[in-house]
Amino acid sequence: MPRDRPQPEPFEPSWLERSLNRYLLAGVVFMVALTVGFVGYRVREPSLRADAARTQRADYTRIGRQLFAASCAECHGENASGGGTAPTLNSKQFLSSTSDAQIHALIAGGISGTAMPAWSLDFGGTLTDEQVQQVVTYLHSLGAHAPSVPTWRQSGMAASGAGAGSAGVPGRPGTAPANKQANVTVVNVTLSDTQGLAGPMTLTVAPASVKAGKVKFVVKNAGTIVHELIVLKTSTSFDQLPVADAGDPPAPVTSGANKVSETTSVGETGDVAKGATKSVTLTLKKGSYVLVCNIAQHYGLGMRATLTVM
Ligand code: HEC
Repeated sequence: MPRDRPQPEPFEPSWLERSLNRYLLAGVVFMVALTVGFVGYRVREPSLRADAARTQRADYTRIGRQLFAASCAECHGENASGGGTAPTLNSKQFLSSTSDAQIHALIAGGISGTAMPAWSLDFGGTLTDEQVQQVVTYLHSLGAHAPSVPTWRQSGMAASGAGAGSAGVPGRPGTAPANKQANVTVVNVTLSDTQGLAGPMTLTVAPASVKAGKVKFVVKNAGTIVHELIVLKTSTSFDQLPVADAGDPPAPVTSGANKVSETTSVGETGDVAKGATKSVTLTLKKGSYVLVCNIAQHYGLGMRATLTVM
């Protein structure tokens, strides 16, 4: 009788195998949970997003209505329905012919030369950009049920003594601003500095992208010295233009350069005195533009910004 051979040790001790199996099982359960979770999330995601957008629109409309009552109703009437000294904004004709972006620009930058002030903090107003957007959302929400008021701009305006009829445009009395002419987009530019050449300078632009066509630049000098706005058509990044020129008109120099080249300029305001506002209307094609103040050293001190024309 052959003697029993000794049993070999099992390859893995059974306690180790049991433990491994437990981990494997836990891993599989976790993976299945993740997979199911992701699929479920993917299915619910679009409606979550739509819900969030709807909630935000409702909140904006509500806050916008309050802001309007507090800031705008005294001139534009309760619920934007006119009767004050300013146009009726709750008008089908106004709301359907004016895009939200245009309304935003009108509120943010105001309408120079009229009682309509600039509201955006950027232009010395009291509303943040988000608050302006809330008012726009509120006005937009009126659009669906707005009554037909073809003479919306006349609402009570004669009473404001705005020079009724002086512009000679029927239905648009008074100082009918150029930015209400068809297809002119208003871009507000603020030029600023706090200590002249001794400190940084700024050039802000709102909105920073516009549709191709007529663009009216309303340029305000909020600084302490003379500035200007020059619109250059270039795809170079706004802060990478070579400062290789000097003189008036700027020409390349080998030393003492303090300006950028203006060879790609499509238009400019000329000098804008401290505290003054000047506008210039240009016809812009699609492309990238850089707005600068090219008075000696001002570009280098920060007076440059991008404008995209779509
Ligand atoms: C002090 C009076 C006054 C206040 C306050 C005022 N506006 Fe105006 N607004 C005007 C006048 C006047 C005009 C018309 C300017 C013109 O002649 O084109 C105007 C024009 C507008 C226009 C353009 C209408 C059009 O037909 O072109 C919009 C939009 C507008 N205001 C929105 C607002 C909003 C929003 C507020 C509050 C945040 C506001 N306004 C507060 C006086 C005011």
